[in-house]
Amino acid sequence: MSSSSTSKIPNSLQEHWMPFSSNRDFKENPRLITEAKGVYLKNHHGKMMIDASSGLFCNPLGHGRKEITNAVAKQLEQLDYVQPFQQGFGGSFELARRISKHTPGNLNRIFFTICGSTAVETAIKIVIAYHKAKGQGQRFRFVGRERAYHGMNIGATSVGGMVNNVKTFASVLMPGVVHMRHTHLKDHKFVKGQPTTGAEMAEDLERICANFGSENIAACIVEPIAGSTGALVPPKGYLKRLREICDKHGIVLIFDEVITGWGRTGSAFASQEFGVTPDVITMAKTTTNGVVPLGAVAVKEEIYDAVMDASPKGAVELFHGYTYSGIPASVAAALAVQDIFEKENIFKKVKEMSPYFLDAIFSLKDLSAVDNIRGYGMLAGIDIKLKEKPGKAGFECFKACYDVGVNFKATGDCLIIAPQFICEKKHIDEIIEKLRSGISNYIKK
Ligand SMILES: Cc1ncc(COP(=O)(O)O)c(C=O)c1O
Repeated sequence: MSSSSTSKIPNSLQEHWMPFSSNRDFKENPRLITEAKGVYLKNHHGKMMIDASSGLFCNPLGHGRKEITNAVAKQLEQLDYVQPFQQGFGGSFELARRISKHTPGNLNRIFFTICGSTAVETAIKIVIAYHKAKGQGQRFRFVGRERAYHGMNIGATSVGGMVNNVKTFASVLMPGVVHMRHTHLKDHKFVKGQPTTGAEMAEDLERICANFGSENIAACIVEPIAGSTGALVPPKGYLKRLREICDKHGIVLIFDEVITGWGRTGSAFASQEFGVTPDVITMAKTTTNGVVPLGAVAVKEEIYDAVMDASPKGAVELFHGYTYSGIPASVAAALAVQDIFEKENIFKKVKEMSPYFLDAIFSLKDLSAVDNIRGYGMLAGIDIKLKEKPGKAGFECFKACYDVGVNFKATGDCLIIAPQFICEKKHIDEIIEKLRSGISNYIKK
């Protein structure tokens, strides 16, 4: 990376209201990133940092991939925009075909969105349209789960279950949403991979069916691994049991794979990794390696067919879509990403590196500030012991780690580590070494 990249702090930091940030803390002591290449970032002090969370779980193929940037540039020169309603271009159809080669079962119909939140919102609407088409318009309830993160529009916030994201907005959320309990039990401390206890937490769905009437429930939505809350790995048998209960009651099962999709677990989708096929999968993030926004919803063919068949030919079948649904630049990036998946055998690479990564991350167990570690594939959560109030320890620890040159996402008191899939062992070693040093400095303060 060039040395001229130690670019200064902008003239003013006041105008930009930053998302999900402690704006006032940041503006007193900003953390600006000026360049990114491979597994490294450079900050405005000129310091190199290793990226231990693949951006926001979205750049696992590495920063600055020429294949992707060239594909986007070429596409923009040839065709920069096509309105996606009643018109199209070849790329989005090709991308849908390429995606459907990897989705499980017959989840072969792909609806493009802008991001993860709009993928979830779209999934909610498709489910409603599907039930209506099947003559079951009374199904309006959605079942989410505590500690879930599905994004930030009204639909996604409603089915999500992270209390800080919900409480301010309670008055405007969707009616009829019920939450199951999360799956993180006391005896899941320092469990690597899937816990062997806790499958019975899926019975919460059966209970909700009994309490609210299963005939009113449209869908159950879960992240196969709850990512943003800190990598809560599903107990063995849990997802399978959810599938059985959904089948029994005609409830659509949605897996939100915005983080787990495209290799994070060592399989294309967590669905394949855990051997459970949902009816709908949402994806985003890695779909373009994070360089341009794109989300997608994959649905079973029978869901698509039911919605098609419910409308007369020539009519718009689903009154839903976005100006930026699968625009050319995003599609070009996603097609280049598909090529890289194949050429570099990325999912196999993740599978092979996962045990090394998990062993390394669990080696941090001896640090006195560490309360718990979990992980699966190339995704792990490190809980930092509570200090005075929730979130304080996590944030201080994040900043101490940033100062020693390792960057990641912290949620509350959990450090979420999701290395890039292109990491070699030496990069994993560097992440662990710097985490150890950053957490140790936090302890000393
Ligand atoms: C599981 C899951 N769903 C949805 C979203 C929302 O995605 P976006 O921020 O692209 O809207 C996220 C973001 O982290 C996520 O982790």
